[in-house]
Amino acid sequence: MSDIPPKYRTAALDNCPDLPNDLLLALAAWSAVPAGSLFLHGEPGSGKTWSAVAILNEQRERLFITESDYLDHRRKRVSGERTWDLGHHPIWPSEVWGEHPRFMLLDDFCSTRLTDWGKAEMARLIDKRYTLDLPTIVTCNLDLDAVTQQIDARTASRLAEGQVHGFPAKDLRQVGSLAQIREGRV
Ligand SMILES: Nc1ncnc2c1ncn2[C@@H]1O[C@H](COP(=O)(O)OP(=O)(O)OP(=O)(O)O)[C@@H](O)[C@H]1O
Ligand SMILES: [Mg+2]
Repeated sequence: MSDIPPKYRTAALDNCPDLPNDLLLALAAWSAVPAGSLFLHGEPGSGKTWSAVAILNEQRERLFITESDYLDHRRKRVSGERTWDLGHHPIWPSEVWGEHPRFMLLDDFCSTRLTDWGKAEMARLIDKRYTLDLPTIVTCNLDLDAVTQQIDARTASRLAEGQVHGFPAKDLRQVGSLAQIREGRV
């Protein structure tokens, strides 16, 4: 069983021709020694999830989760419905790997219309990962100033302590990535 969405299963950093070289080098350097958070922000379709999964694919004890799936799970938990918790995710055997995923990719941060409860849940998750010093990649359409507006300054501050990279605005879904074009897939 894999947590990686099929769309991104083949993602690899050595096949990201659309990204500027300095950005690729920074991602590769973080991937080699993952520590703290890696905040990737940019317009829809700019390749954030692809490159984040490329890094995740190098990790063994890892979890891919979107903001909406995370909140869905938390909602069920609060209302007593059956769900996994972060330590009991179907692909996260906590008895083997402990309560918190060692390596997490939180995809589409701030992508849903967050209620106050949702904001508090996301702030709590980021704080938890921060205080436990667990490597966490966050992809987001907003920059950290906008995260301050959307969530709060405390969350943006924690993310700013890690690495922050903006992706050039280019919707690869519209134009096709260079890798796809080279392979004749678009
Ligand atoms: N190096 C690559 N090789 C092949 N396909 C790629 C590559 N990089 C990106 N893509 C494709 O480009 C599209 C957009 O990439 P991706 O989903 O990572 O964007 P995103 O920045 O996460 O967008 P959003 O903010 O909407 O979630 C996807 O179809 C993805 O599969
Ligand atoms: Mg994405």
